[in-house]
Amino acid sequence: MSYPYQITSMDQYEMAYRVSVTNPEEYWASVAQHFSWRKKWEKVLEWNFKEPNVKWFQGAKLNITENCLDRHLGEKGDQPAIIWEPNDPSENSRILTYKKLHQRVCQFAQVLRNNGVKKGDRVCIYMGMIPELAIAVLATARIGAIHSVIFGGFSAQSIADRLEDAQATFIVTCDGAFRGGKDIPLKSVIDDALIGNKTIKRVIVYTRTRTAVSMIKGRDVWWEDEMLKVTEGPGNPVNVVAEVMDAEDPLFILYTSGSTGKPKGVVHSCAGYMIWTTYTFVNVFQYNPGDIHFCTADIGWITGHSYIVYGPLSAGATSLMFEGIPTWPDAGRFWDIVDKHKVNILYTAPTAIRSLMGFGLDPLKGKNLSSLKILGTVGEPINEEAWHWYDEHIGKKKCPIVDTWWQTETGGVLISNLAGVTPAKPSWATLPMPGVQPILVDENGREVTQKDEDGLLKGNLCIKAPWPSILRTTYGDHERCRKNYFATYENLYFTGDGALKDDNGFYRITGRVDDVLNVSGHRIGTAEVENALNMHAGVVESAVVGYPHNIKGQGIYAYVIFSGNKKDEELTRKDILSTVSRVIGPIAKPDKIQFVNGLPKTRSGKIMRRILRKIAEGETENLGDISTLLDPGVVEEIKNGKL
Ligand code: WT7
Repeated sequence: MSYPYQITSMDQYEMAYRVSVTNPEEYWASVAQHFSWRKKWEKVLEWNFKEPNVKWFQGAKLNITENCLDRHLGEKGDQPAIIWEPNDPSENSRILTYKKLHQRVCQFAQVLRNNGVKKGDRVCIYMGMIPELAIAVLATARIGAIHSVIFGGFSAQSIADRLEDAQATFIVTCDGAFRGGKDIPLKSVIDDALIGNKTIKRVIVYTRTRTAVSMIKGRDVWWEDEMLKVTEGPGNPVNVVAEVMDAEDPLFILYTSGSTGKPKGVVHSCAGYMIWTTYTFVNVFQYNPGDIHFCTADIGWITGHSYIVYGPLSAGATSLMFEGIPTWPDAGRFWDIVDKHKVNILYTAPTAIRSLMGFGLDPLKGKNLSSLKILGTVGEPINEEAWHWYDEHIGKKKCPIVDTWWQTETGGVLISNLAGVTPAKPSWATLPMPGVQPILVDENGREVTQKDEDGLLKGNLCIKAPWPSILRTTYGDHERCRKNYFATYENLYFTGDGALKDDNGFYRITGRVDDVLNVSGHRIGTAEVENALNMHAGVVESAVVGYPHNIKGQGIYAYVIFSGNKKDEELTRKDILSTVSRVIGPIAKPDKIQFVNGLPKTRSGKIMRRILRKIAEGETENLGDISTLLDPGVVEEIKNGKL
């Protein structure tokens, strides 16, 4: 059977959903016909969540870059694949057509090979948002190596940990990156990360900011020099034949925070990830040929992997990539870009919307946003106020808004309305994608069936069966993957989120129910921040919780027991913040640090975060039962010292 690949009506959605659940193998085999394979599969799906073991399209052979590039060369060779907008509006934008991008990717793939990169090697990519980042990602995939992109905001220490965990042997980086008014010295951070590193053989450095960098003989080479070695002139383009990959071969590792101290290397595989990102891209955003898609995320996060690079390119779309930030040189930057490049689809985070809302309507004056057809949000729950502002002032009430819920581990969107096809509801992600079977459970893993006073079901969000791009493992530690996602509730994938469900079957994601914070749409584990705080010489112990923050969604509130002499409290705070910056990166810096003499603990020594969370949220009365505390007195003290 063949089913419509692009769903264009509610009836079609319902039909697709029904088939995808009752006969997933038939449904996904039908979807898979829309891709180019070196060899077709023998078995569509094999799975259990016990180990877990999930295999899609076993026996199939492919290379994702042939789907993202080669297959478009005939019809779309001269169509822009990537439109790049620089940080500084006075610099020229760049357009890479499918032909050009294919050529560059082949060229850099050859550079990687010349430098000794082989199939299965781990290549760490630490770059700013320039086309060469996408080129490096695709070139790595083309030769069957595994990329691990690290966001430019992570510290040398974080990079070192990730290099070690992934046993990476190659790095691709830049001298520096431009972000707003700042010039971030990426290569120098890499140099710090490499002190004591024993696995890295080669660092390839692209020149972006012309910052002085130290190039170590035998280890560091320039991107430009290496590219010249494989350029044979206009009439003789390099064509690097893609490595033939098994469907289940790993495509990339992406590190993400969890409730324990150490980030996990989420592993995605070639075929399933390709199918899901492409299928969801086309359906959620209702992409039509010629549309210009602008996803404002950084490729250092999963959103950029899936909806700037792989999804759009595999769908033959035009993907706009922006180097800078929404508020520089002024808060009209996004709207200038929409106007200049005639953007049709805008996909951004609620935190960006809230921050731009704060500048009022002036930055919108004189900006022509009439090219916009579809708007999207991702990364955190969107509050109704931000939703309506987006709808009214950006979409002018004529653009459907998709609220897309998903995670690094899910590879692509799992719950979202389909733009203009299925209904939207402000602050609700609404309906599951075909193939996604959500279930709400209570603490004991029993399905929630009792509605609350608002007539809604409320519980922990789990998924009952695998979709093609579910994570396959956490790198180097499969047991960790099992424990983290598949052991809380038997035979279910646990998302870590809480959710509500209404009578229409719509879902509203309410936020994390574990010790993970969502700060400006970025995941940060409280344990990770605590570890970093505790590394400061004067810090004895700390406890970190989230609190509601107008722009970031959640802010980081740290309670710190300090033993040293804090002659100057403000300076001590700064010292502690700079420690966190060094250990994790500036994104993990607490917004508030309260010095305390003790933390509320149970008699068994467990910190009662529930109480700390309530105090950070400004609650003083209903702190719940504190009689089990070892020393109930500390609660009073903490309440009185609240910042
Ligand atoms: C967590 C995943 C998905 C790419 C960006 C973040 C939260 C994500 C939504 C949404 C409410 C959302 C969840 C999730 N989240 N999208 N539309 N509504 N919450 O990826 O860093 O892996 O974080 O972000 O809490 O678990 P991530």
